[in-house]
Amino acid sequence: MPIVTVESLEAYAAATAGCTRCRLAQGRTQVVFGAGNPHADLMFVGEAPGFHEDKQGIPFVGQAGKLLDRLLAGVELRREDVYIANVLKCRPPGNRDPQPDEIEACEPHLFRQIELIEPKVVATLGNFATKLLSGRPLGITRVHGQEQETALGGRKVLLYPLYHPAAALYTPAMLKVLEADFARLPELLGRELEPVAAPEPELALVAHAEPAEQLGLF
Ligand code: URA
Repeated sequence: MPIVTVESLEAYAAATAGCTRCRLAQGRTQVVFGAGNPHADLMFVGEAPGFHEDKQGIPFVGQAGKLLDRLLAGVELRREDVYIANVLKCRPPGNRDPQPDEIEACEPHLFRQIELIEPKVVATLGNFATKLLSGRPLGITRVHGQEQETALGGRKVLLYPLYHPAAALYTPAMLKVLEADFARLPELLGRELEPVAAPEPELALVAHAEPAEQLGLF
């Protein structure tokens, strides 16, 4: 489907409900667009819907979602305070990893969501979201807990990579790290970010300007 320009997140969600940009459209129950506060300062980006998410149409409703809720409560946030989305909006069969062409097909939806929500902090959960939004190949084990200012959706945001809750569920050491990284979220949300600098005037404009003579300056 073409990437339509709509003003509200709700309208954009409605426009993506019939998306057929990749093969995952064939096996899904429904598009899992995202959920939460459309004006949230904090946005989470996971990997892809699983079995329960595909059935209910809501991200992070399974075991990993319960852990996410608990981590949010630990920093005095509720699901309704934040926005939760995924790199892929449709469930890959058997919960396999997202394929590069599926990520490429789906990423305009995520970027448009970020543009419309205008979050201050984007917390990426796991490798797929972290690599996509940082534009770097560095894995989550190297970069978790290291915030980075970056421009997303035409604005500066603080990108904050975290371990994926599903990975932390069965690995106590990873859960400890995830809890410690999560505990820094209030501090990051309180940070002031400089607006993205206005672009330099384009040289092309100068080159195409009318010669001064023709403008009657001399
Ligand atoms: N894992 C994800 O990455 N996203 C979900 O929505 C659920 C589990």
